[in-house]
Amino acid sequence: MAPQGTVSADIHRGLAGVVVDTTAISKVNPETNSLLYRGYPVQELAAGCTFEEVAYLLWYGQLPNEEQLAQFEDRERGQRGLDDSVARLVTERPATAHPMDIVRTAVSVLGADDPNAADSSDAATLATAQRLFAKLPAIIALVQRHRRGLPAIEPRDDLGYSANFLWMTFGELPAPAVVNAFDASMILYAEHSFNASTFTARVITSTLSDLYSAVVGGIGALKGPLHGGANEAVMHVFDAINTSHEPDAAVRARQWLERELAEHHTIMGFGHRVYKNGDSRVPTMKAALDSLISHYGRPDIAELYDALESEMVSRKHIMPNLDYPSGPAYHLIGFDTDMFTPLFVASRITGWSAHVREQLASNMLIRPLSLYVGEEERHLPR
Ligand code: COA
Repeated sequence: MAPQGTVSADIHRGLAGVVVDTTAISKVNPETNSLLYRGYPVQELAAGCTFEEVAYLLWYGQLPNEEQLAQFEDRERGQRGLDDSVARLVTERPATAHPMDIVRTAVSVLGADDPNAADSSDAATLATAQRLFAKLPAIIALVQRHRRGLPAIEPRDDLGYSANFLWMTFGELPAPAVVNAFDASMILYAEHSFNASTFTARVITSTLSDLYSAVVGGIGALKGPLHGGANEAVMHVFDAINTSHEPDAAVRARQWLERELAEHHTIMGFGHRVYKNGDSRVPTMKAALDSLISHYGRPDIAELYDALESEMVSRKHIMPNLDYPSGPAYHLIGFDTDMFTPLFVASRITGWSAHVREQLASNMLIRPLSLYVGEEERHLPR
């Protein structure tokens, strides 16, 4: 039996509202509904930069000039290929394995195969971050192809990051509208201060473990449906609503939502720990989704999207988060639903590794306290 008595310690469950450290990487401001990467509004970056430029910005603190960008792109393009050990790791998994489990294991194998994995100098950590950034698209594309019984496609070094990612996955050159929407999603997912997976990566780093371990931990945290797994869960919501034969999307969404809320279920793709009046990234991703909807001629997706959003906002006053538009966007591009969260990994490797370097630069072991509420001291009967 738990002991009686008053709780004297301040307890911050879920660390909600707790400021644990400083960061110069991104600023989330829920009052002004804004998100800045190194000072730049994320909307501006999505409209005017490539994902490679944003990765550079997150790691180096400044946008690259032409020469810096060319060198950075060369390094990325030169490391896109996979060694046999990693490719086999993917293709020997059953097609039923969850892609997040395969990607997490592949990063572990990359670490085990890297003789410099334990070098935690800033230069080595940055080099490892760039290696993972370059290789994750090939891993993820191969997982998608293996699930469909298709062979691997070699990377093309004449294509930018997003075009090459889609080329390796689908084996055809993507239309510019598709590349732009995908690139915008990569930029929007890249960084979001001390979210659960980034904090996990920082906790692991604070023990002076290596970047691969921090990324593996980050992937594990991201997989959960309350975090990155929500983009997959949104597509399951759309599928569940569409099992109804009701022709009107608004009625279909209303009926489904009524049932879910009556059972006190969480509606995936809505709500946020920090933003309470809307997620700053949603308008940009919604515009990207709209361009995909018109490119693929799928107004039914727009109808369902709008119907569920307006029902949820009017009933619960809870707004969509980034996963709400990105789930259907990835579906339209052609990814299996289980592949959505790995796409988030490919993007967030930039933010995770920026935070790992920041943590290492002024490290302090992260080790909170807890208030014990178990049995009072007792002794064996003999
Ligand atoms: N569906 C239904 N109710 C929700 C909800 C959702 N998506 N998000 C929040 N709520 C409810 C909570 O149950 C709570 O209700 P209560 O006061 O009656 O208990 C209330 O809204 C306030 O929620 P809050 O405690 O402020 O949210 P949180 O900070 O603990 O949780 C999330 C934030 C993201 C975990 C939560 O919104 C959620 O689970 N969303 C769905 C998963 C998702 O999309 N995750 C991706 C996040 S980017």
